[in-house]
Amino acid sequence: MSVLLTGAAGYVGSHACVELLNQGYSIVSADNYVNSSPVALERVRQITGRDFPAYETDLRDEEKLRAIFRAHKIESVIHFAGLKAVGESVKKPLEYYDNNLYGSIVLLKIMREFGVKSMIFSSSATVYGAATKMPLDEKMPLGCVNPYGWTKFAIEQLLRDLCLADPDFSAVLLRYFNPVGSHKSGLIGDNPSGIPNNLIPYVTRVAVGELERLPVFGNDYNTPDGTPLRDYIHVCDLARGHAAAMAYAAAHKGCEAINLGTGKASSVLDVIHTFERVNGVPIPHFIAPRRAGDADESWSSTEKAERLLGWKAEKGLDDMLRDAWRWQRQNPKGYHA
Ligand code: WQD
Repeated sequence: MSVLLTGAAGYVGSHACVELLNQGYSIVSADNYVNSSPVALERVRQITGRDFPAYETDLRDEEKLRAIFRAHKIESVIHFAGLKAVGESVKKPLEYYDNNLYGSIVLLKIMREFGVKSMIFSSSATVYGAATKMPLDEKMPLGCVNPYGWTKFAIEQLLRDLCLADPDFSAVLLRYFNPVGSHKSGLIGDNPSGIPNNLIPYVTRVAVGELERLPVFGNDYNTPDGTPLRDYIHVCDLARGHAAAMAYAAAHKGCEAINLGTGKASSVLDVIHTFERVNGVPIPHFIAPRRAGDADESWSSTEKAERLLGWKAEKGLDDMLRDAWRWQRQNPKGYHA
């Protein structure tokens, strides 16, 4: 019996592969490598000493996907695959709905053909939209502020409806806060192409000298130092959360949305100063205009994850930024050395 990981070569996906393999699971990878590299899967084999089949496929290719389910006894799916750049989604909504939502529909149809009734879905705190009451908890009303978020919302809703229609189906919707850091080996990590949208890869590229200085998008927010607060969570803690969700889904039917965050908030300046302190590398930065859509603060209630999954984040910001720097330093050009 195997677990199919879609988007397994991606940032969170590759870390989840390591965690699941180390816990003894058999896995199968399906990834179209449009936003990732098969080198990440080679690194996963190197870290774990375990091999696994990997298929290059787009989820919208029904026949290729069907062939994977024919070749392997898939018991559950962890669905990471999806486009995830908020700004890009505003410019290309049709591509985002086609890739993220339609790809998920094809996947779920093939799962139904083969009687697979368990999915862990890579969702995002972005479904809380412009919620201002902190900490964010799973009972809060949802509402998105960009097409990327709406695709995550739509796939969540599809899974909620599927579980209502089929009481044997099990879906866990994991709402990530801000994943950062890398496996301690420095062999896998966040590898965005082009100029990074997210804070930490931008910081590490400044540290490695690839980018000159970090734009701090506004320091006039309603926060202690004026820069936005976020709940940064170590990607290895996030990976452990997926394994805990797998165990939960094996024992429970129905649909549950669960936050994966630390419950702690750090500002942009906190990140810069912590990075400089733990790594001894200066991060030149300047105050730039606000970025559209950025909220003052976003951090997680961790109560439900602790109660249902018996999981809580263990690593702090120091670990996240030390590990992020090790990955970047050892892989200045990411996977395409
Ligand atoms: C964090 C903070 C920026 C870059 C996004 C998605 C979310 C999830 C995580 C997928 C903000 C500031 C950033 C820079 C900066 N992705 N910043 N200069 O926006 O909280 O969340 O990524 O699931 O869905 O929305 O993360 O890392 O982009 O920004 O000042 O060059 O860093 O303004 O306050 P965000 P981020």
